[in-house]
Amino acid sequence: MRRIDRETVQKILDTADIVEVVSDFVHLKRRGANYIGLCPFHNERTPSFSVSKSKGICKCFSCGKGGSPVNFIMELEQMSYNEALRYLAKKYHIEIQEHEMSEQEREEISTRESMLSVNEFAMRHFEHLLTDTDDGRDIGLSYFRERGISDAMIKRFHLGYSLDKRDDLFQTAINKGFSEKYLLDTGLCYRTERGTMQDRFRGRVIYPVFTVSGKVIAFGGRTLRKDKEVAKYVNSPESSVYKKSNELYGLYQAKQAIVKKDKCILVEGYMDVISMHQSGVENVVASSGTSLTEGQIRLIHRFTENVTVIYDSDPAGIKASLRGIDLLLAEGLNVKVMLLPEGDDPDSFAQSHTSSEVEAYLSENEQDFIAFKTHILTDGLGNDPVARSKAIQNIVRSISVIPDQITRTVYIAECSRVMGISEKVLTLQVAKYITERQERDANDAMRRRNRMEAGLPPEAAPIDSHEPPVDIADPQTPSVSQVVDNNDSIRRRKRMEYLAPYERELVRYAVRYGASYLCDVATDDQGNVREMSVVEYLRQELDVDDITMYNPAYAEALDLAYDITMSPTFGADMQAHRQVEETKRSNAIAEGIEEIRRTTDDFQSIERKETELHAREDAVYAAALDDFREHYVSRALLSCDRDNVRRLATDMISSRHQLSKIHTKYSHIQTERDRLAELVPLAVYNLKCALVECDIIDVNSEIKEAYSTHSDDLDLIRKLMIRVAELNSLKKELAKYLGERILSPRIRR
Ligand code: UTP
Ligand code: MN
Repeated sequence: MRRIDRETVQKILDTADIVEVVSDFVHLKRRGANYIGLCPFHNERTPSFSVSKSKGICKCFSCGKGGSPVNFIMELEQMSYNEALRYLAKKYHIEIQEHEMSEQEREEISTRESMLSVNEFAMRHFEHLLTDTDDGRDIGLSYFRERGISDAMIKRFHLGYSLDKRDDLFQTAINKGFSEKYLLDTGLCYRTERGTMQDRFRGRVIYPVFTVSGKVIAFGGRTLRKDKEVAKYVNSPESSVYKKSNELYGLYQAKQAIVKKDKCILVEGYMDVISMHQSGVENVVASSGTSLTEGQIRLIHRFTENVTVIYDSDPAGIKASLRGIDLLLAEGLNVKVMLLPEGDDPDSFAQSHTSSEVEAYLSENEQDFIAFKTHILTDGLGNDPVARSKAIQNIVRSISVIPDQITRTVYIAECSRVMGISEKVLTLQVAKYITERQERDANDAMRRRNRMEAGLPPEAAPIDSHEPPVDIADPQTPSVSQVVDNNDSIRRRKRMEYLAPYERELVRYAVRYGASYLCDVATDDQGNVREMSVVEYLRQELDVDDITMYNPAYAEALDLAYDITMSPTFGADMQAHRQVEETKRSNAIAEGIEEIRRTTDDFQSIERKETELHAREDAVYAAALDDFREHYVSRALLSCDRDNVRRLATDMISSRHQLSKIHTKYSHIQTERDRLAELVPLAVYNLKCALVECDIIDVNSEIKEAYSTHSDDLDLIRKLMIRVAELNSLKKELAKYLGERILSPRIRR
């Protein structure tokens, strides 16, 4: 694996100027301290895309997209992190230094990267087996040939073959230095009851699953056996890199076509996607046999608002998946539906027609969901009034989930036309459904809150009866890992939800102001003090009470912020910057003095003016250093190579609520930064209180439980009640305790 040298990455990040980078794509106009233009990520007439040169970021205040120069390029050009770096290097004529990773570096990269790299390796291995071995060619390749898949598609989708041997992949990977742990974590291999390692996909043709940015996160393996004994597909299990409900098969290969055609076609299976591509229809993705999830829909929504769902014309299947339409509508997408000729699925249809026939069929046979539902729900029932009324209700319900009112009105008109019912009646019915749903949502929320306050676990989510039973686990895989301690995980989730706003606020300070000065702390009892930064304080406060964030993304961001401020690099950067600013100050003072002496002649005025000059330049100097410290952590996080951290940092930094700061001699508007010494401890205090609150909720529920199951055990109940009392007084103590530990903020001279 090759990696761009750290120095090169840094050089790219330091050089890339957000205004210049964005200007290549967007016409920017200056507006105050910022630049503004039409957002390239969505259609708009009035500009809401704002670029801040000083913060080094851009952000659309309408659709929320944006970020650092790297983010911007990644998002706009749909590139990976590395590709974006290379793009910027080219733009700024920076020569890329890269190197083969050393043993040590290999160990250092995170679990995620290790899992991705073993997946990448496996994919290459499977591809190699398919084309370069006898078994691969005779079994795998001839299967794809039989199904009419071209070499170009095999390449494009990186199809492969896994030998029908117990541990071919395992052995090859271990020999290449990949560790067993990641082969297990990714699910590429598993351990049998006898303790031996086995390849999960042995003897199957392989369909790798990619993320939007092209990372291999999972595989589907299809058996070539005709018998019904084995599962047709074996898929990678969910893991920290693969959340099935947030991925769509084929999106990586389809995204450019989706954007270009401003439409996404949704099919069911791997083969459907590939055959459609081959026939030239490239804007196709698959939900891979499960019913559509919100996560998948949001993924589509990033690229287009228009979705066409293709169903093969099996009525039972269609009725079951009608729900998917409502989900799509509820996310604000424009939904069209298409039925294929009797007996065809997208794969067989695409294979048996020329590409122009396929295109023509697509453009002629799309229906809006009203026509489609009318057709499906009333087909063959003649003019049966009951069926008609049911169909109308079903359609009206779908219309009622559409978020946009104008769109609802358009569909009401359409439904009125198709079903011959007055718009007024339909409008009333839609309104009724909307109100009902709002009430239901409010009730649900209240019930959840009440349960939580009573310390009861949240109700289990209703089981989706339409979910087809796919993804059958390999019979030899022990399912022990799936047995999780349910109570514990529910408690954790509940806490995570409850604590999220408090954790977020705290992490926001770390991201936004991590390296900023917070207060002085005593280093001895001789009155010597040193400066403490925001993130150092946060870390100390959390460590004292052994607190880790429940939300892993927050925990990661905080850790990174801490590492950044504590690293020697920060000290060195700070030192260098101080020197630069000191030189600036002394130059300014020297020039100022010269000017004063040239223009003033009475001695007293000279002295007064010089004093003022010093004070002014000292303030400028201090402000420059403050600015540098303030942006240090956020700059680093915005360019870090973890997607979630970058996204988090962008969100936190671009919040609009900050007062703009004006430093003049006479007026000084208080900014958040000026008040850190009071705000940061407050955030810590709030989080700690919330944690104690969670404990109180838990103990209260234990008390309830004790009453109902062993009501005779008064001793236990009494103990628990004492615990609640203790927690309550702890909450009171916290405020005081906190007040004592923070020192008063430094008064700037
Ligand atoms: P299909 O059975 O329609 O498969 O399931 P297919 O992709 O058309 O495959 P061919 O044409 O028989 O080769 C649709 C999708 O459901 C998932 C797969 O993602 C498949 O592509 N599936 C199906 C499973 O995950 N497991 C299964 O056992 C079956
Ligand atoms: Mn098929």
